[in-house]
Amino acid sequence: MTSSEQPPTNRYLSGNFAPVNKEVTVTNLPVEGTLPTHLDGRYLRNGPNPISVVDPPTYHWFLGDGMVHGIRLRDGKAEWYRNRWVRSSGVAEAFGEEPHPGPTNNGFDFGANTNVIGHGGRTFAIVEAGPNPYELTDELDTIGPCDFDGTLGGGWSAHPHRDPTTGELHTVSYHWAWGNKVRYSVLDRVGKVTKLVEVQTTGAPMVHDCAITASSVVIYDLPTVLNVDAAIAGASLPYRWDNDYPARVGLLARDGDGTEVQWFDVDPCYVFHTLNAFDDGDKVVLDLVRHDRMFATDFNGPNEGTPTLERWTLERASGRVHTTVLAEGGHEFPRIDERLFGSSHRYGYTIGIDAGDGDGSHQAVGFENILYRHDMVQGTTTVRSFGAGSSVGEFVFVPNSPVSPEDDGVLMGFSHDPVSDTSRLEVVDAQTLESVAAVQLPVRVPVGFHGNWVPTTELSHLV
Ligand SMILES: [Fe+2]
Repeated sequence: MTSSEQPPTNRYLSGNFAPVNKEVTVTNLPVEGTLPTHLDGRYLRNGPNPISVVDPPTYHWFLGDGMVHGIRLRDGKAEWYRNRWVRSSGVAEAFGEEPHPGPTNNGFDFGANTNVIGHGGRTFAIVEAGPNPYELTDELDTIGPCDFDGTLGGGWSAHPHRDPTTGELHTVSYHWAWGNKVRYSVLDRVGKVTKLVEVQTTGAPMVHDCAITASSVVIYDLPTVLNVDAAIAGASLPYRWDNDYPARVGLLARDGDGTEVQWFDVDPCYVFHTLNAFDDGDKVVLDLVRHDRMFATDFNGPNEGTPTLERWTLERASGRVHTTVLAEGGHEFPRIDERLFGSSHRYGYTIGIDAGDGDGSHQAVGFENILYRHDMVQGTTTVRSFGAGSSVGEFVFVPNSPVSPEDDGVLMGFSHDPVSDTSRLEVVDAQTLESVAAVQLPVRVPVGFHGNWVPTTELSHLV
């Protein structure tokens, strides 16, 4: 991006997007309501939080150093809250610490800022586009970069999807150095990559998410692509919308090689997130959030139109895609009961996004204070608003027991109150969206990306 393309200010550095400037540890947090005693584990959430002063015109929200926030719940209590920067070499240097040892992807080192997961008794901060995951302790201190015992071979993804029948993580990764290719990989239950399949793409697309069905992996090859001119000009994030790039979605057989992809042409758009996908006879049903454009005009976005919750039905026989809008309004951060990843789901959960009207008369609010529950069978949406002026981030579903029916559980995510400038972990009933409990923090949690509930069985000392 050239300086003439830069906005004079950067909304991702103000309000609750602004980074916090210290790490804190707080124990025995006040709880409003009653935390269900089956919630024994950690709620973790990652997000960008630059450790050094950044230049507003050139800062991209996607590139801030990762900071993981965590709350430990047990026996109806909120035992602790911690926030910790992911100690990349740069962050460690800023702290005056020794670097944390571990393999980087050809020296490409970055404090993963997009998601945080528990897998095989370990905790990983993860990101797309080349850098390796960072492994963390149960209490969120950095162990170091990780290539899954040498099995990864260069960069992973922020959106692995766990197959509930095998416990394996499936994902699609990309990296500019791979050229016009993306990689489908499978990470087994103990944390070793057991499958790596390269798939040819038209160019070098930004691929944020994927989806799995029982038979297939869904691959997005959409028109936000590596832009060499932007890279040469020194853009911090050199991906741009390309009007000439064919928008398509691919179905790769999970047991096939990279040549067995059926591609479906779609209307030009960008997709960050899948809600879920599943096989339906000869069709694949794909629920997702669609953006009209991405990085076409606002290179510091996402900020180019209202993101919509849609169902795309991919017909293998005809090669056609049928599109249905599932709910009115702006939506993002779609989640489901992930015991149903890859199979038919009835319910989905999103948060409200106000993207403005595009002509400047109504400024984008961004993250609203609204949580949505969608019933795909009834075609209805339940709405929960939090406090006036507040905002909420992604909510994750946690079942009430391993055998509970779909939707029988709680949703948890952070809210922010601009008056007190503090955050809460909101725990709501997934069926009614009514509050079950809230954990009050003495600090704020900046707007971030993705979180997950990691039950105690995923803590490393139990493995
Ligand atoms: Fe994401």
